[in-house]
Amino acid sequence: MGLDDFKENQEKKVIDANKKVRIGFIGCGWIAGSHIKALLKQPVVEIVAGADLIPGKAKAFFEKYEVENVKTDYASHKEMLADKSLKLDAVTICTYNRQHAQPAIDALNAGLHVLLEKPFTVTTEEAVAVMKAEKASGKILSIGFQPRMDANMKMIKKIVESGTLGQIYYIQTGGGRRRGIPTPYGTTFIEDETAGLGALGDIGCYSLDMVLNAIGYPKPLTVSGYKSAFFGTDPNYAGYIQCGHPEYAKKFGVDDFAAAFIRLEGGIILDFRIAWAMNLDTPGDTIIMGTKGSLRIPSTECWNGTVGGPMVLYHEVCGEQTQTEIPIIKMKEGLFDLKIRTFLDAIKENGTAPVPSSQILYNQAIIDGIAKSANLGREIEIEIPEI
Ligand SMILES: NC(=O)c1ccc[n+]([C@@H]2O[C@H](COP(=O)([O-])OP(=O)(O)OC[C@H]3O[C@@H](n4cnc5c(N)ncnc54)[C@H](O)[C@@H]3O)[C@@H](O)[C@H]2O)c1
Repeated sequence: MGLDDFKENQEKKVIDANKKVRIGFIGCGWIAGSHIKALLKQPVVEIVAGADLIPGKAKAFFEKYEVENVKTDYASHKEMLADKSLKLDAVTICTYNRQHAQPAIDALNAGLHVLLEKPFTVTTEEAVAVMKAEKASGKILSIGFQPRMDANMKMIKKIVESGTLGQIYYIQTGGGRRRGIPTPYGTTFIEDETAGLGALGDIGCYSLDMVLNAIGYPKPLTVSGYKSAFFGTDPNYAGYIQCGHPEYAKKFGVDDFAAAFIRLEGGIILDFRIAWAMNLDTPGDTIIMGTKGSLRIPSTECWNGTVGGPMVLYHEVCGEQTQTEIPIIKMKEGLFDLKIRTFLDAIKENGTAPVPSSQILYNQAIIDGIAKSANLGREIEIEIPEI
């Protein structure tokens, strides 16, 4: 690059701190409600547009949250992205899993920053396609893992990075709910054509991120996966009876339980299980075992990416086996507020994605690997195409 090109590039990076970030919504369902509540707390934002596949849904959504002057007369996200009068800077994508990849690719191709809900995508191939668009656009793509913002999650990473555990060789993670298939607002979470993944993608992605982020996201090598759907396909499942929808059982097309044995680069073994429903309180705490110490991270009833109680560090002091409790850190700012604010900060400060796709790609490759291995009934090598 010549000096003139370099100067031009530098000038392009100058940002106006007073300029508001003009945001559009793609998908105006359940989780979009959490996004808008957090966005409305941020002074640097202007919500200018929203699109939903269901006619009238976007309009009703912004009326509900009393946000005025939002354009919503779009039949698809593509129409909204093509409306240059909006002068959009960014979009938040709150669509169901099967509609994560295409809107993200289209928004990046339109030169917008993207906050994309979790899980990243359904397949590794989709994630790679999104990352190619990200690379070509030079825009920020952040994946919606708000547990990353939790000080307790950060503590897990700090403990690992401090070397207190020594060399890590075995990790057990995951958890789940006794009865917790998410159907409060319909069936988009449980139908294959909208969700594509069940517990595995919904809450499995969080437990994988909890440990993989802590250990620096080593490359996954092989996986032997299992998945089942005994509860979701049962019309007598308590959750369906409670909400008066036994017919949901016929619509259920994803997993409600998944388990896997994963080999990671660096000789680390990852033993994983996740459940939306099971006849058990928890299939176990998360444990990270190392040559100098081990960490126990209590599970929770809900398993949506939180630390269930004080963590315990098992280690040796002067030849004595001892244990240290790590108290829970109370957060001042909500995780969703932090997720939104860190994304906006990255845009305003020309920074990098708070939750980068380059890390979550490995999370996605494990999830996809578990699904593929389970379908084949054998261990597989995890292939990640070049971006
Ligand atoms: N981060 C979290 O804590 C959290 C919590 C719940 C859900 N989620 C994620 O959010 C996503 C959405 O979940 P939800 O519960 O809000 O689902 P939902 O079904 O309530 O809402 C999704 C909306 O997206 C719309 N839509 C789908 N494709 C579209 C497209 N191409 N253009 C415009 N609109 C489109 C649908 O019509 C629907 O209204 C899921 O991927 C889920 O995993 C994240």
